[in-house]
Amino acid sequence: MAREFKQVGVVGLCTMGAGIVEVLARSGLSVVAVDKDAAALARGRGHIEGSTARAVERGKLTADEHEALLARISFGTDLSELAEVDLVVEAVPEQLELKRAIFTALDGICKPDTILASNTSSLSITEIAVSTGRPGKVVGMHFFNPAPVMKLVEVIRTVVTEQDVVDDVEAFAQQQLGKTDVTVGDRAGFIANALLFGYLNHAVSLYESRYASREDIDAAMKLGCGLPMGPLALCDLIGLDTAYEILDTMYKQGRDRLHAPCPIFKQMMTAGLLGRKSGQGFYTYDEPGSPNVVADAESVAAGR
Ligand code: CAA
Repeated sequence: MAREFKQVGVVGLCTMGAGIVEVLARSGLSVVAVDKDAAALARGRGHIEGSTARAVERGKLTADEHEALLARISFGTDLSELAEVDLVVEAVPEQLELKRAIFTALDGICKPDTILASNTSSLSITEIAVSTGRPGKVVGMHFFNPAPVMKLVEVIRTVVTEQDVVDDVEAFAQQQLGKTDVTVGDRAGFIANALLFGYLNHAVSLYESRYASREDIDAAMKLGCGLPMGPLALCDLIGLDTAYEILDTMYKQGRDRLHAPCPIFKQMMTAGLLGRKSGQGFYTYDEPGSPNVVADAESVAAGR
Protein backbone atom coordinates (compact mmCIF):
# COMPACT_ATOMS: atom_id res chain seq x y z
CA MET A 1 0.00 0.00 0.00
CA ALA A 2 1.26 3.47 -0.91
CA ARG A 3 2.52 5.70 1.85
CA GLU A 4 0.22 8.49 3.02
CA PHE A 5 1.66 12.01 3.04
CA LYS A 6 -0.21 14.15 5.57
CA GLN A 7 1.88 17.27 5.66
CA VAL A 8 4.03 18.49 2.78
CA GLY A 9 6.58 21.31 2.60
CA VAL A 10 7.49 23.55 -0.33
CA VAL A 11 10.71 25.58 -0.43
CA GLY A 12 10.74 28.55 -2.82
CA LEU A 13 7.59 30.46 -3.70
CA CYS A 14 8.32 31.92 -7.13
CA THR A 15 5.96 31.06 -10.00
CA MET A 16 6.42 27.28 -9.81
CA GLY A 17 6.66 26.98 -6.03
CA ALA A 18 3.54 29.05 -5.46
CA GLY A 19 1.69 26.98 -8.07
CA ILE A 20 2.81 23.75 -6.38
CA VAL A 21 1.60 25.02 -2.97
CA GLU A 22 -1.78 25.70 -4.61
CA VAL A 23 -1.91 22.18 -6.11
CA LEU A 24 -1.07 20.57 -2.75
CA ALA A 25 -3.50 22.69 -0.72
CA ARG A 26 -6.27 22.18 -3.27
CA SER A 27 -5.87 18.42 -2.81
CA GLY A 28 -6.65 18.79 0.90
CA LEU A 29 -3.10 18.56 2.27
CA SER A 30 -1.66 20.72 4.96
CA VAL A 31 1.28 22.65 3.45
CA VAL A 32 4.25 24.42 5.03
CA ALA A 33 5.51 27.05 2.55
CA VAL A 34 9.01 28.44 3.09
CA ASP A 35 10.97 31.16 1.32
CA LYS A 36 14.01 33.19 2.23
CA ASP A 37 12.50 36.44 3.52
CA ALA A 38 9.30 38.36 4.18
CA ALA A 39 9.27 39.95 0.71
CA ALA A 40 9.52 36.54 -1.00
CA LEU A 41 6.75 35.17 1.26
CA ALA A 42 4.50 38.15 0.49
CA ARG A 43 5.02 37.67 -3.26
CA GLY A 44 4.30 33.92 -3.02
CA ARG A 45 1.27 34.43 -0.81
CA GLY A 46 -0.05 37.09 -3.23
CA HIS A 47 0.35 34.68 -6.15
CA ILE A 48 -1.56 31.91 -4.33
CA GLU A 49 -4.31 34.23 -3.09
CA GLY A 50 -4.72 35.82 -6.55
CA SER A 51 -4.88 32.48 -8.34
CA THR A 52 -7.38 30.94 -5.90
CA ALA A 53 -9.49 34.12 -5.85
CA ARG A 54 -9.80 33.82 -9.65
CA ALA A 55 -11.03 30.24 -9.13
CA VAL A 56 -13.75 31.63 -6.83
CA GLU A 57 -14.72 34.27 -9.43
CA ARG A 58 -15.01 31.51 -12.06
CA GLY A 59 -17.23 29.46 -9.76
CA LYS A 60 -14.62 26.67 -9.37
CA LEU A 61 -14.29 27.15 -5.59
CA THR A 62 -16.82 28.39 -3.02
CA ALA A 63 -15.87 31.17 -0.60
CA ASP A 64 -15.81 28.61 2.25
CA GLU A 65 -13.58 26.20 0.30
CA HIS A 66 -11.30 29.12 -0.54
CA GLU A 67 -10.98 30.09 3.11
CA ALA A 68 -10.33 26.48 4.15
CA LEU A 69 -7.73 26.07 1.39
CA LEU A 70 -5.78 29.15 2.51
CA ALA A 71 -6.03 28.01 6.16
CA ARG A 72 -4.24 24.76 5.24
CA ILE A 73 -1.12 26.73 4.23
CA SER A 74 1.34 28.03 6.81
CA PHE A 75 4.16 30.36 5.75
CA GLY A 76 7.64 30.72 7.20
CA THR A 77 11.17 31.88 6.45
CA ASP A 78 13.05 29.15 8.32
CA LEU A 79 13.71 25.66 6.96
CA SER A 80 13.36 24.31 10.52
CA GLU A 81 9.57 24.71 10.08
CA LEU A 82 9.79 21.63 7.85
CA ALA A 83 10.86 19.32 10.70
CA GLU A 84 7.58 17.35 10.76
CA VAL A 85 6.61 17.15 7.07
CA ASP A 86 6.53 13.82 5.19
CA LEU A 87 7.63 15.21 1.83
CA VAL A 88 9.41 18.41 0.76
CA VAL A 89 9.22 19.79 -2.78
CA GLU A 90 12.03 22.26 -3.44
CA ALA A 91 11.39 24.92 -6.12
CA VAL A 92 14.12 27.55 -5.69
CA PRO A 93 15.95 29.10 -8.70
CA GLU A 94 17.91 26.75 -10.96
CA GLN A 95 21.32 27.05 -9.26
CA LEU A 96 22.93 23.75 -8.33
CA GLU A 97 24.91 25.00 -5.32
CA LEU A 98 21.83 26.73 -3.86
CA LYS A 99 19.78 23.54 -4.20
CA ARG A 100 22.56 21.39 -2.75
CA ALA A 101 22.87 23.68 0.27
CA ILE A 102 19.11 23.52 0.86
CA PHE A 103 19.06 19.71 0.60
CA THR A 104 21.98 19.40 3.00
CA ALA A 105 20.11 21.59 5.49
CA LEU A 106 16.82 19.70 4.98
CA ASP A 107 18.63 16.39 5.59
CA GLY A 108 19.59 17.62 9.05
CA ILE A 109 16.13 19.04 9.84
CA CYS A 110 13.57 16.56 8.45
CA LYS A 111 12.58 13.16 9.85
CA PRO A 112 14.76 10.29 8.56
CA ASP A 113 11.99 8.89 6.34
CA THR A 114 10.96 12.24 4.82
CA ILE A 115 11.24 12.21 1.02
CA LEU A 116 13.13 15.16 -0.44
CA ALA A 117 12.03 16.10 -3.98
CA SER A 118 13.34 18.76 -6.34
CA ASN A 119 11.22 20.50 -8.97
CA THR A 120 14.35 21.25 -10.99
CA SER A 121 13.75 21.35 -14.74
CA SER A 122 17.20 20.33 -15.83
CA LEU A 123 19.77 20.07 -13.03
CA SER A 124 21.07 16.66 -11.97
CA ILE A 125 18.96 15.01 -9.26
CA THR A 126 21.94 12.74 -8.54
CA GLU A 127 24.20 15.71 -7.75
CA ILE A 128 21.50 17.14 -5.49
CA ALA A 129 20.89 13.74 -3.83
CA VAL A 130 24.52 13.19 -2.86
CA SER A 131 24.54 16.45 -0.89
CA THR A 132 22.38 14.57 1.67
CA GLY A 133 22.93 11.54 3.89
CA ARG A 134 19.80 9.94 2.37
CA PRO A 135 20.33 9.88 -1.43
CA GLY A 136 17.94 6.92 -1.71
CA LYS A 137 15.10 9.17 -0.53
CA VAL A 138 15.75 11.97 -3.05
CA VAL A 139 13.76 12.21 -6.31
CA GLY A 140 12.79 14.73 -8.94
CA MET A 141 9.17 15.84 -9.00
CA HIS A 142 8.85 18.14 -11.98
CA PHE A 143 5.64 20.12 -12.35
CA PHE A 144 4.67 22.25 -15.36
CA ASN A 145 3.58 25.86 -15.58
CA PRO A 146 0.85 26.72 -14.64
CA ALA A 147 1.08 23.91 -12.06
CA PRO A 148 -2.63 23.95 -11.09
CA VAL A 149 -3.62 23.43 -14.75
CA MET A 150 -0.99 21.18 -16.34
CA LYS A 151 -1.72 17.52 -15.76
CA LEU A 152 1.82 16.11 -15.95
CA VAL A 153 4.37 15.41 -13.24
CA GLU A 154 7.71 13.93 -14.28
CA VAL A 155 9.15 11.70 -11.55
CA ILE A 156 12.94 11.42 -11.83
CA ARG A 157 14.77 8.52 -10.24
CA THR A 158 18.52 8.29 -9.90
CA VAL A 159 20.60 5.12 -9.82
CA VAL A 160 20.28 5.12 -6.01
CA THR A 161 16.65 6.19 -5.49
CA GLU A 162 14.83 3.49 -3.49
CA GLN A 163 12.06 1.78 -5.47
CA ASP A 164 9.56 2.34 -2.62
CA VAL A 165 10.23 6.07 -2.80
CA VAL A 166 9.52 6.13 -6.55
CA ASP A 167 6.34 4.06 -6.04
CA ASP A 168 5.11 6.33 -3.24
CA VAL A 169 5.75 9.55 -5.17
CA GLU A 170 4.06 8.14 -8.30
CA ALA A 171 1.01 7.11 -6.23
CA PHE A 172 0.95 10.49 -4.51
CA ALA A 173 1.01 12.37 -7.85
CA GLN A 174 -1.80 10.21 -9.24
CA GLN A 175 -4.08 9.56 -6.31
CA GLN A 176 -3.64 12.61 -4.12
CA LEU A 177 -2.89 15.31 -6.71
CA GLY A 178 -4.89 13.90 -9.64
CA LYS A 179 -1.91 14.28 -12.01
CA THR A 180 -0.52 11.90 -14.60
CA ASP A 181 3.06 10.92 -13.92
CA VAL A 182 5.84 9.67 -16.14
CA THR A 183 8.99 8.25 -14.60
CA VAL A 184 12.38 8.83 -16.17
CA GLY A 185 16.10 8.57 -15.42
CA ASP A 186 18.27 11.54 -14.53
CA ARG A 187 19.19 13.31 -17.77
CA ALA A 188 19.00 17.09 -18.35
CA GLY A 189 15.57 18.17 -19.57
CA PHE A 190 13.94 14.81 -18.68
CA ILE A 191 11.32 14.13 -21.40
CA ALA A 192 9.22 17.25 -21.89
CA ASN A 193 11.88 19.95 -21.69
CA ALA A 194 14.36 17.92 -23.73
CA LEU A 195 11.82 17.98 -26.57
CA LEU A 196 10.29 21.42 -25.94
CA PHE A 197 13.28 23.69 -25.46
CA GLY A 198 15.02 23.05 -28.79
CA TYR A 199 11.79 24.15 -30.43
CA LEU A 200 11.43 27.26 -28.22
CA ASN A 201 15.05 28.25 -28.86
CA HIS A 202 14.54 27.83 -32.61
CA ALA A 203 11.43 30.05 -32.49
CA VAL A 204 13.37 32.72 -30.61
CA SER A 205 16.14 32.57 -33.25
CA LEU A 206 13.55 33.15 -36.02
CA TYR A 207 12.35 36.21 -34.11
CA GLU A 208 15.89 37.40 -33.35
CA SER A 209 16.87 37.26 -37.03
CA ARG A 210 13.68 39.17 -37.94
CA TYR A 211 12.59 36.32 -40.17
CA ALA A 212 9.01 36.77 -38.94
CA SER A 213 7.14 38.88 -36.38
CA ARG A 214 6.44 37.54 -32.91
CA GLU A 215 2.71 37.47 -33.68
CA ASP A 216 3.21 35.49 -36.91
CA ILE A 217 5.53 32.95 -35.27
CA ASP A 218 3.01 32.39 -32.49
CA ALA A 219 0.00 32.32 -34.83
CA ALA A 220 1.73 29.73 -37.04
CA MET A 221 2.17 27.29 -34.16
CA LYS A 222 -1.22 27.98 -32.53
CA LEU A 223 -3.36 27.96 -35.64
CA GLY A 224 -1.25 25.69 -37.84
CA CYS A 225 -0.29 23.10 -35.24
CA GLY A 226 -3.08 23.37 -32.67
CA LEU A 227 -0.85 24.28 -29.73
CA PRO A 228 -2.54 26.20 -26.89
CA MET A 229 -0.05 29.05 -27.16
CA GLY A 230 2.75 30.12 -29.48
CA PRO A 231 6.43 29.64 -28.55
CA LEU A 232 7.20 33.28 -27.76
CA ALA A 233 4.12 33.66 -25.57
CA LEU A 234 5.15 30.39 -23.87
CA CYS A 235 8.67 31.73 -23.22
CA ASP A 236 7.04 34.74 -21.55
CA LEU A 237 4.92 32.38 -19.40
CA ILE A 238 7.92 30.22 -18.40
CA GLY A 239 10.12 33.29 -17.76
CA LEU A 240 13.08 34.18 -19.96
CA ASP A 241 15.53 33.69 -17.09
CA THR A 242 14.18 30.20 -16.39
CA ALA A 243 14.18 29.31 -20.10
CA TYR A 244 17.77 30.52 -20.40
CA GLU A 245 18.93 28.44 -17.41
CA ILE A 246 17.23 25.31 -18.75
CA LEU A 247 18.74 25.74 -22.23
CA ASP A 248 22.17 26.51 -20.82
CA THR A 249 22.15 23.41 -18.58
CA MET A 250 21.00 21.17 -21.43
CA TYR A 251 23.61 22.68 -23.77
CA LYS A 252 26.41 22.16 -21.24
CA GLN A 253 25.37 18.54 -20.71
CA GLY A 254 24.54 17.48 -24.26
CA ARG A 255 26.56 19.94 -26.42
CA ASP A 256 23.69 19.95 -28.92
CA ARG A 257 23.71 23.39 -30.53
CA LEU A 258 19.91 23.29 -30.68
CA HIS A 259 20.12 24.09 -26.97
CA ALA A 260 22.74 26.87 -27.13
CA PRO A 261 20.61 29.77 -25.82
CA CYS A 262 19.98 32.48 -28.45
CA PRO A 263 21.90 35.64 -27.45
CA ILE A 264 18.68 37.64 -27.21
CA PHE A 265 17.66 35.68 -24.08
CA LYS A 266 20.60 37.09 -22.11
CA GLN A 267 20.13 40.58 -23.57
CA MET A 268 16.47 40.68 -22.55
CA MET A 269 17.26 39.28 -19.09
CA THR A 270 19.89 41.95 -18.53
CA ALA A 271 17.34 44.60 -19.52
CA GLY A 272 14.86 43.17 -16.97
CA LEU A 273 12.49 41.76 -19.61
CA LEU A 274 11.70 38.41 -17.97
CA GLY A 275 8.26 37.75 -19.45
CA ARG A 276 4.88 37.86 -17.74
CA LYS A 277 6.34 38.00 -14.25
CA SER A 278 8.09 41.34 -14.92
CA GLY A 279 5.29 42.68 -17.16
CA GLN A 280 7.40 42.58 -20.33
CA GLY A 281 9.15 39.92 -22.36
CA PHE A 282 8.54 39.21 -26.04
CA TYR A 283 5.15 40.86 -25.41
CA THR A 284 4.07 43.64 -23.03
CA TYR A 285 1.48 42.91 -20.29
CA ASP A 286 -0.82 45.30 -18.45
CA GLU A 287 0.99 44.58 -15.17
CA PRO A 288 3.61 42.18 -13.78
CA GLY A 289 2.13 38.67 -13.44
CA SER A 290 -0.81 39.41 -15.71
CA PRO A 291 -1.62 37.29 -18.79
CA ASN A 292 -3.19 40.31 -20.60
CA VAL A 293 -1.12 41.51 -23.55
CA VAL A 294 -1.27 45.24 -24.33
CA ALA A 295 -0.17 47.24 -27.37
CA ASP A 296 3.48 48.33 -27.40
CA ALA A 297 5.90 50.01 -29.82
CA GLU A 298 6.39 46.73 -31.74
CA SER A 299 2.68 46.16 -32.29
CA VAL A 300 2.15 49.82 -33.26
CA ALA A 301 5.03 49.62 -35.77
CA ALA A 302 3.44 46.44 -37.22
CA GLY A 303 0.09 48.27 -37.49
CA ARG A 304 -1.66 45.91 -35.05
N1 CAA B 1 -2.94 29.38 -12.28
C1 CAA B 1 -4.05 28.68 -12.05
N2 CAA B 1 -4.98 28.44 -13.00
C2 CAA B 1 -4.76 28.97 -14.22
C3 CAA B 1 -3.62 29.74 -14.53
C4 CAA B 1 -2.68 29.93 -13.49
N3 CAA B 1 -1.55 30.62 -13.68
N4 CAA B 1 -3.68 30.10 -15.83
C5 CAA B 1 -4.81 29.60 -16.33
N5 CAA B 1 -5.47 28.92 -15.36
C6 CAA B 1 -6.71 28.17 -15.48
C7 CAA B 1 -7.88 29.10 -15.64
O1 CAA B 1 -8.40 29.50 -14.39
C8 CAA B 1 -8.85 28.23 -16.41
O2 CAA B 1 -9.46 27.32 -15.50
P1 CAA B 1 -10.97 26.80 -15.72
O3 CAA B 1 -11.00 26.17 -17.07
O4 CAA B 1 -11.16 25.83 -14.58
O5 CAA B 1 -11.83 28.02 -15.63
C9 CAA B 1 -7.94 27.40 -17.34
O6 CAA B 1 -6.65 27.42 -16.71
C10 CAA B 1 -7.83 28.00 -18.72
O7 CAA B 1 -7.35 29.34 -18.58
P2 CAA B 1 -7.78 30.54 -19.52
O8 CAA B 1 -9.17 30.32 -20.05
O9 CAA B 1 -7.52 31.83 -18.80
O10 CAA B 1 -6.70 30.55 -20.65
P3 CAA B 1 -6.37 29.49 -21.77
O11 CAA B 1 -7.50 28.59 -22.10
O12 CAA B 1 -5.75 30.33 -22.81
O13 CAA B 1 -5.26 28.56 -21.06
C11 CAA B 1 -3.04 28.03 -20.45
C12 CAA B 1 -4.10 29.12 -20.50
C13 CAA B 1 -3.50 26.91 -19.52
C14 CAA B 1 -1.75 28.65 -19.92
C15 CAA B 1 -2.86 27.44 -21.91
O14 CAA B 1 -2.57 28.49 -22.79
C16 CAA B 1 -1.76 26.41 -22.00
O15 CAA B 1 -1.95 25.24 -21.71
N6 CAA B 1 -0.57 26.86 -22.46
C17 CAA B 1 0.63 25.98 -22.59
C18 CAA B 1 1.34 25.91 -21.26
C19 CAA B 1 2.57 25.03 -21.35
O16 CAA B 1 3.03 24.58 -22.39
N7 CAA B 1 3.17 24.81 -20.18
C20 CAA B 1 4.41 24.08 -20.05
C21 CAA B 1 5.55 25.06 -19.97
S1 CAA B 1 7.12 24.25 -19.82
C22 CAA B 1 7.27 24.00 -18.18
O17 CAA B 1 6.51 24.41 -17.36
C23 CAA B 1 8.48 23.21 -17.81
C24 CAA B 1 9.52 23.97 -17.14
O18 CAA B 1 10.36 23.34 -16.53
C25 CAA B 1 9.64 25.43 -17.27
